[in-house]
Amino acid sequence: MPLLLSILLLVSALRPCSPSLLSSPIPQPLFVPPVKFFLRTINSLMVSELAPHDSSGRFVRDYSAASFIAPPLPTLDPAHSYHLYLGNPCPWCHRISLALPFLSLPASVTVTMLGDDAAKATKGGWVVPGEEPLCGAQDLYGVYMNATDNSYSGRFTAPLLLDLTTSTLVSNESNDILSLLGTLSASPLVMPEGMEERAREENEYYYTHLQNGAYRCGFALSQVAYDEAAADVLAGLARLEATLADSPFVLGEEFTEVDLKLFPWACRHDGAYSKLFKAPGSLAEYPSIKRWARRVASLPGVEGSIDVGDAVGSYYRSLFMLNPSGIVPKVETDLTKLFA
Ligand SMILES: *[C@@H]1O[C@H](CO)[C@@H](O)[C@H](O)[C@H]1NC(C)=O
Ligand SMILES: *[C@@H]1O[C@H](CO)[C@@H](O)[C@H](O)[C@H]1NC(C)=O
Repeated sequence: MPLLLSILLLVSALRPCSPSLLSSPIPQPLFVPPVKFFLRTINSLMVSELAPHDSSGRFVRDYSAASFIAPPLPTLDPAHSYHLYLGNPCPWCHRISLALPFLSLPASVTVTMLGDDAAKATKGGWVVPGEEPLCGAQDLYGVYMNATDNSYSGRFTAPLLLDLTTSTLVSNESNDILSLLGTLSASPLVMPEGMEERAREENEYYYTHLQNGAYRCGFALSQVAYDEAAADVLAGLARLEATLADSPFVLGEEFTEVDLKLFPWACRHDGAYSKLFKAPGSLAEYPSIKRWARRVASLPGVEGSIDVGDAVGSYYRSLFMLNPSGIVPKVETDLTKLFA
C-alpha cells in the first residue's frame, strides 16, 4: 500500500505542470518521504537480486560456494581439450586473460570472449558472439545447461573452464582456474622460493580490502555496511602504497600472481569503483601504486589483456540500479595513459 501511494505521488511529483487530476501542487513534506521509500525499496530489491546481502545490508559474495572442487586441485589431463569463457568487463575474468600471455599453454586450450548483454542472454548476462564450440550455445547459460544435462542450479558466471573432451564444467572460480591452467603450462607464473604462504595472505588481504572491498562499497544497502567497506578500501590503498614505495612488485623484485590479481582492480578503480561504487580514494593520491601499475601495464601482453573503455563503461551500462540514467562519464580508455 505505501508502495502504491508513493507511485501515485511520484507520478504527480514528476508532472507538476501538466494539466491533470494530479496537477494540484502536493506539499513537499507529503511526497518526498514516500517517494524516497519507494525508490529505496526498488533499489534494495534490485541490488539484492543481483548480489546476496546479510541482514545489515552488507554485500556477501558466495565465495565459499565458488568452487566445484575441494582442495587439492586435480591436474588437468594434457590429452584433453579445454575451453575458457571470459568476459572483458569482469575483473575475475581479467585475471585469466592477464595470465594467458605469461603462461605457455598448449593449443588444446582455447578461449571464447563473451559479450555482456543482459537483454539477449537467457540468464546471467553473458552472450556468445561467435561459434560456440561445446554445443553452439547462444549464451553462457546454454553452456552451463548443456554441460550439466540441464541440472545446473547455480549462477551463470564467468570465468568458466570447460573440458571439451568430456563436455563437463571444470571450474567457475578464478583462483582455481589460474592454478589449474598453471599445471598445463610450460612456464607457470613465478612464485619466489618460500613465498607461497605470504602470497596467500596478501591475496586474501587485497581481495577483502580492495578487489571485493570496491564491490562491498557499491552494493552496500546500509550506511554502516558502506562505512565498513570504505574504511577497508582506504586501509588497503594505504598498505599497498607503503609496500610499493620501496618494492617494484608486491612480493619484491618479481611480478607474481599477487600483482596479477591486483591489476584488474587497479584498471577499474578510478573509472568505475571510485565513482559508481563510491569507493574512496583516487590513484592520483597514491604515486607508488600508479608507478607499479605502469610497470605491470608495460609487461609483454598486458596491454592486450583488457579494453579499459569497454570494461569501465560496462559497469555504468549494466548496473542499472546504480545508474538508472545509463550515463557513462568520460573515462580514460588508454591503459598507458590511465596510470600516467
Ligand atoms: C559456480 O559454480 C557453483 C557450483 O555449482 C555455483 O554454486 C556458483 O553459483 C557458481 N558461480 C560462482 C561465482 O561461484
Ligand atoms: C548439448 O548439445 C549437444 C550438441 O548440440 C546436443 O546433442 C545435446 O542434446 C545437448 N544436451 C543437452 C542436455 O541439451
